[in-house]
Amino acid sequence: MKRSLDEHAARFDEVAADYDEDQTEEYRACAGLVVDHAAPGPDDVVLDLGTGTGAIALALAPDAGRVIGRDISEGMLDQARGKAADQDLDNVEFGEGRFRDPNLPDDADVDVVVSNFAMHHLSADEKREAIDVIAALEPRRFVLGDVMFFGEPDPDEPFYTPEVDDPSTVGVLADALTDAGFALTAVERIHDQVGVLVAERAPGANSDEER
Ligand SMILES: C[S@@+](CC[C@H](N)C(=O)[O-])C[C@H]1O[C@@H](n2cnc3c(N)ncnc32)[C@H](O)[C@@H]1O
Repeated sequence: MKRSLDEHAARFDEVAADYDEDQTEEYRACAGLVVDHAAPGPDDVVLDLGTGTGAIALALAPDAGRVIGRDISEGMLDQARGKAADQDLDNVEFGEGRFRDPNLPDDADVDVVVSNFAMHHLSADEKREAIDVIAALEPRRFVLGDVMFFGEPDPDEPFYTPEVDDPSTVGVLADALTDAGFALTAVERIHDQVGVLVAERAPGANSDEER
């Protein structure tokens, strides 16, 4: 991580009010694919890590049983809570939590994990650690939309902020996912630097045994 958690949180607190308006076409395409691939059922518990203003969590809530959004920025979480109230959604809850420790309620048995445009803030080792934390929750599906490199990134057109962000290649992410016991079932390339990976776990699979 090129910045501390507090620095990332402060950075997003500052932009929270305008965040939804400032998005690119590629971000919107990525978010749409994450929502489509997540496809929760009516009894499913969904965890959205790095939920921000709740774009993914709120889009999934009408189809899911319960949605838990976790983030480190109170400013972003406040926006998400306001949108949930405006939309009369009572099955979505937003609170502090991080990739390393999602801070889940004791009664939450997670079926689907999603994360959009957030994991690229972590270093390669931290992403691997985060994926292991997600695998230990034993969801049947993990959908990761993010900045990721499909080839050599164009240095003149980075789709991220090199001073603060640390995207990985698709290969590094795929290795971490398969090492954690997931099978990669779809790879969506939106841009040379933006994609969606869909990872599934066999029911009852134990990530420790598979490593
Ligand atoms: C670019 S925003 C994406 C928000 C949302 N997922 C979306 O699709 O609009 C990245 C979010 O990740 C959060 N974040 C950064 N590092 C995090 C961490 N270690 N754990 C949890 N959230 C984190 C930031 O606070 C920010 O809200």
